Amino acid sequence: MYVNVAVLKETQPHERRVALAPSVVPKLIKLGAKVHMQTGAGDAIKLADSAFKDVAFIADRKVLVADADVVLAVQPPALEVIDAMKKGAILISFVYADHQPALVKRLIDRKITCFAMERLPRITRAQSMDALSSQSALAGYYAVQLGAIHLRRVLPKITTAAGTIGPAKVLVMGLGVAGLEALATAHRLGAVTEGYDVRPETEEQALSLGATFVETGVDARGKGGYARELTPEEKTKVAAALTKHLQSADLIITTAAIPGRPSPKLISKAEVAGMKPGAVIVDLSAEGGGNCEDTRPGETAEIGQVTIVAPLNVPSFLGEDASELYSKNQYNLLALMMKNNIITIDWGDEILAKTALTHDGQMKNQATRPRANPGVGDKAPTPEPAAKVA
Ligand SMILES: NC(=O)c1ccc[n+]([C@@H]2O[C@H](COP(=O)([O-])OP(=O)(O)OC[C@H]3O[C@@H](n4cnc5c(N)ncnc54)[C@H](O)[C@@H]3O)[C@@H](O)[C@H]2O)c1
Repeated sequence: MYVNVAVLKETQPHERRVALAPSVVPKLIKLGAKVHMQTGAGDAIKLADSAFKDVAFIADRKVLVADADVVLAVQPPALEVIDAMKKGAILISFVYADHQPALVKRLIDRKITCFAMERLPRITRAQSMDALSSQSALAGYYAVQLGAIHLRRVLPKITTAAGTIGPAKVLVMGLGVAGLEALATAHRLGAVTEGYDVRPETEEQALSLGATFVETGVDARGKGGYARELTPEEKTKVAAALTKHLQSADLIITTAAIPGRPSPKLISKAEVAGMKPGAVIVDLSAEGGGNCEDTRPGETAEIGQVTIVAPLNVPSFLGEDASELYSKNQYNLLALMMKNNIITIDWGDEILAKTALTHDGQMKNQATRPRANPGVGDKAPTPEPAAKVA
């Protein structure tokens, strides 16, 4: 007896990740899995099929999933994949149901049990399964590299016989997982770092990473550790406190997000115009519309003397490491339900109950977690609750 696991090759444009890394295959087999992958699944990150030991490769994705008990993917799969899956099989991937009404309907019709990675509760026990965090950490790191290559100056203090160049000033706005990793990376590279967030508990976290904290006097803690939207008065107060920091920064990295809302605008057009010539903004919130009024999602724009870099699907730029971490996140989630070579779903387990989107022909949880995802989709999240399905 074994559990048939199938891993899809990603098909969305610019998606380089794969849901299974070679290092995780033996762990899956130990759990009782027989592993099949789609031919060329690791091509985008230069992982040949031969890099995956003890895996059977199948070229046709419909044939691949036809016998699978569990299908693993990064992005939400195509409808024809769901149609080809066995009734009652399990799908684990990012879904973002409010952008995927047709997919959700099909999951229900086909009685697929779908665990949507973005729904995983942010609790301590689930940390090893938290793909939002693993992918955001990589994005935060990469934002600093992107900023550095667009700057016309160095990040650290450099002394030569001809004189000394002072360190660059990096301001990180939004200190969740990505923002804190960006602060840590910029500090390691020798920049002078400042952090800002509307959740006061982030001050201590910023200080511990060698940064100073921009105090705005606004506390916008929302539900579940997330931020809430600012009132117009709070926005004015914050803007006044931030002005001089925006004007003195060489590199600004923005990561601010609010569940269920488009990305909050932290930098206005007028503020961009007031920035240092040659300054760079890397907007990690481009998926949700961006944190800067001048952001053009998916593009690098020269706005006056300022460069605004607004990449989409940032974890995919680091596809090898992103796949490794994502694969471990999925393995840890699967390990909760795979025992003695069979799948047993304990619906009393908070992690499984909250991550499940559909099961046995029904929506498992109506409320989605509609926030911009580092790497899935290209639309701003909408405030509506779950997709309505028949
Ligand atoms: N316990 C766990 O296992 C766990 C794991 C990961 C994250 N978390 C927590 O979840 C929360 C969300 O983390 P995330 O990385 O998903 O964040 P996120 O991507 O939802 O948001 C990024 C940051 O933007 C900030 N923000 C929102 N509006 C802002 C504004 N107007 N100005 C400045 N900043 C603004 C938020 O406070 C947040 O820190 C955090 O509290 C984090 O510590 C917990």
